[in-house]
Amino acid sequence: MRVLVTGGAGYIGSHTVVQLVAAGHTPVVVDSHVNSRPSVLPRLEELIGTTIESHAFDLRDADKTSAVLAEGCFDAVIHFAGLKAVGESSQIPLEYYDNNLGTTFALLRAMERHGVRQLVFSSSATVYGETTTVPMPEHLPTGATNPYGWTKVMQEQILRDVAATGTTQVALLRYFNPVGAHPSGTIGEDPQGIPNNLMPFIAQVAVGRRERLQVFGDDYPTPDGTPLRDYIHVEDLAAGHVAALEYLAAHPDTHVREWNLGTGTGTSVLEMVAAFEAGSGRPVPYEVVDRRPGDLATVYADPTRAEAELGWRATRTIEQMCADTWRWQSANPQGYPG
Ligand code: NAD
Ligand code: WQD
Repeated sequence: MRVLVTGGAGYIGSHTVVQLVAAGHTPVVVDSHVNSRPSVLPRLEELIGTTIESHAFDLRDADKTSAVLAEGCFDAVIHFAGLKAVGESSQIPLEYYDNNLGTTFALLRAMERHGVRQLVFSSSATVYGETTTVPMPEHLPTGATNPYGWTKVMQEQILRDVAATGTTQVALLRYFNPVGAHPSGTIGEDPQGIPNNLMPFIAQVAVGRRERLQVFGDDYPTPDGTPLRDYIHVEDLAAGHVAALEYLAAHPDTHVREWNLGTGTGTSVLEMVAAFEAGSGRPVPYEVVDRRPGDLATVYADPTRAEAELGWRATRTIEQMCADTWRWQSANPQGYPG
C-alpha cells in the first residue's frame, strides 16, 4: 500500500515509517517540523536502505495537502501530525484546536477529493478522561480534562461522522504511554525543551542533561504510592499501525473502530526509575514533590480487542523499553542534530 504518513518525522511516525517499509508498504511523509527535526529523514533512509519521499509543509495548507494526495495514488493515510503537550494546551488552547482539528479537516477534504478511503488516526488514552475504571476497555464513555484531550475526543467524533457516510474507513488507535526507541539507537524521542513525559525526563537525567527527576507525588493509592501507567514500546505501537492498516484493507465493511494499543499492565514511576537505572547502569536521582494536577492514580489498557481483531499484542518488556531508550539517549545526548 502507498501510505501518506502525516507527522512522519515525529517520534511515533518515524518508527512507523520503518515498519511500513519492512511490511512491504510505501510511506510518504508530510511534516511541518513544528516538533521534529528534518535530520530524522536521512537516518530513516539509512535504516531502511532506500529513499523516502517527504514533504515539509503545514497540513492546514489545504491546497498543498490536496496536491500531495492528487499526485500519489494513495491507498491510505496514517495521521500522526498534531500538537501533544497537555500542559501547553491549556496555555495556548486555540493553537491546539486550530492545529489538531485543522490538519484533520484539510486531510479529510483532500482524501474525499482524491478518493483515498482509509485513515488510521493517532488517538490517545486521554479520551477516557477522568475514568477510574481499570483496565480500560474501548466502550467506556469518552471525555477530557484539558484542551489537548478535547482535540482528540473531537477528532474521534468528526472521524466517526465522516466514516458513517460510508466514504471512509477509520481506525481510531488509542495509545497508552509510548516509550522506547528503535533498537539501533539511531531514532528515538527528542522532545524540544523540558520534557513533559516521564521516560524522556528520566533518560535526560541518566545522561547528565538534567540534575534530578521530580516525582509528582508518592501518596497515591498504589503499591509504592506513585502512579501506575501502561508504558508501551514504540516498536509495538508502530506494529499496531501496520496491523490496523491491513485490517481496514481486509475488512471493507468496517467503517470505524476503536482499538486500545497498550500492554494491559501498570508500572509505577519508581519501578520505571529502578528499571532505567538497571538498564543504563546510571543513577537517576529523584525528589518527591507535590502531585501534578490532573494526574490519575492508575491507568492501563484492556488490550483484548486489538489482540482478538488485529492479531496484535505488545510483546516488549519494560527492560527492553529502558535499554532501547538508553541506547538512543546515550548515542544522541542532545537528540537529533540541527
Ligand atoms: P511528535 O510531536 O513527535 O510528532 C508529531 C509530528 O507532527 C511532529 O513531527 C510535528 O512536527 C508534526 N506536526 C504537528 N503539526 C503539524 C502540522 N500542522 N502540519 C504538519 N506536521 C505537523 O508526537 P508523537 O509522540 O509522535 O505523537 C504522534 C501522535 O500521537 C500525535 O497526534 C499525538 O497526539 C498522539 N499521541 C502521542 C502520545 C505520546 O505520548 N507520544 C500518546 C497518545 C497519542
Ligand atoms: C507518567 C507518570 C506522572 C514526569 C501523558 C498524556 C497522555 C498521553 C501520554 C498523549 C505520571 C509521572 C512524569 C515527571 C513524574 N499523551 N511523572 N515526573 O501523564 O500518563 O500521559 O502522555 O496523548 O494524554 O497525559 O504521562 O509521562 O507525563 O507521566 O513523576 O517529570 O510519570 O505524574 O504518574 P501521562 P507522563
